[in-house]
Amino acid sequence: MMPNWPKLAGQGERYLLKQLMDIKSGARVVPEMTGMLDNLNEQDLADIAAHYSSQTLVGGVADPELVERGEAIYRGGNLKTGLPACTGCHSPTGQGNDPAGYPQLAGQHADYTAKQLTDFREGNRTNDGDAMVMRTIAERLSNKDIQAVSQYIQGLRSGADL
Ligand code: HEC
Repeated sequence: MMPNWPKLAGQGERYLLKQLMDIKSGARVVPEMTGMLDNLNEQDLADIAAHYSSQTLVGGVADPELVERGEAIYRGGNLKTGLPACTGCHSPTGQGNDPAGYPQLAGQHADYTAKQLTDFREGNRTNDGDAMVMRTIAERLSNKDIQAVSQYIQGLRSGADL
C-alpha cells in the first residue's frame, strides 16, 4: 500500500460511488487514475464501491509529537478562526456518516489526508459541492495544523470505544 493512495476498506458505499463518478467525469482530478474508469458504467462503479465498503479497514498509528495538537483540532476546531470541529460531520470515531455524504476518515494514511486537505485549501480539489464545505474548512488550517490533524486521524479507530 502506498501512503499517497487512500485506504478504501470500510469507506462508506455512497461516498465511494460519488468519488468514482466524480473521478470518471473529471469533477475530481486524480492524474494517477486518468482513463482507468472510462469503460466502466454506473453499475460497475457501484459494484466496486460495495466491494471496498464491505472490507475491514486496517488502522495506523499517530506520530506522538503531533497527536495532541491534532486531537484538539479534530475534537474542538478553533473558535478564533471559525474552524468547526471535524467530529460534527466525520463523527468522534472518524467513521463518518455515509447517508449524509461524510466520509470515514479513521485510520487513513496521513500523507493522503494531508494531500486532500491541502488540495481543498489550494482549490485543487473542488468536488465538495456548491456549499464548498471542505474548501472553506481547509482555508482555516495552516500547514502545521494539517500535519497534526492528519496524524491524529491516522491513529483513530472507527470501532473504538470512547
Ligand atoms: C460540515 C461538515 C464537515 C466538517 C465539519 C468537516 N468535514 Fe471533512 N468532509 C465533509 C464532506 C461532505 C466531505 C466529502 C466531500 C466530497 O464529496 O468529495 C469531506 C471530505 C473530507 C476529506 C476527504 C476524505 C477522502 O477520503 O478523500 C478529508 C480528509 C476531510 N474531509 C477532513 C476533515 C477535517 C480534518 C475536518 C476538521 C478540521 C473536517 N473534514 C470537517 C464534511 C465535513
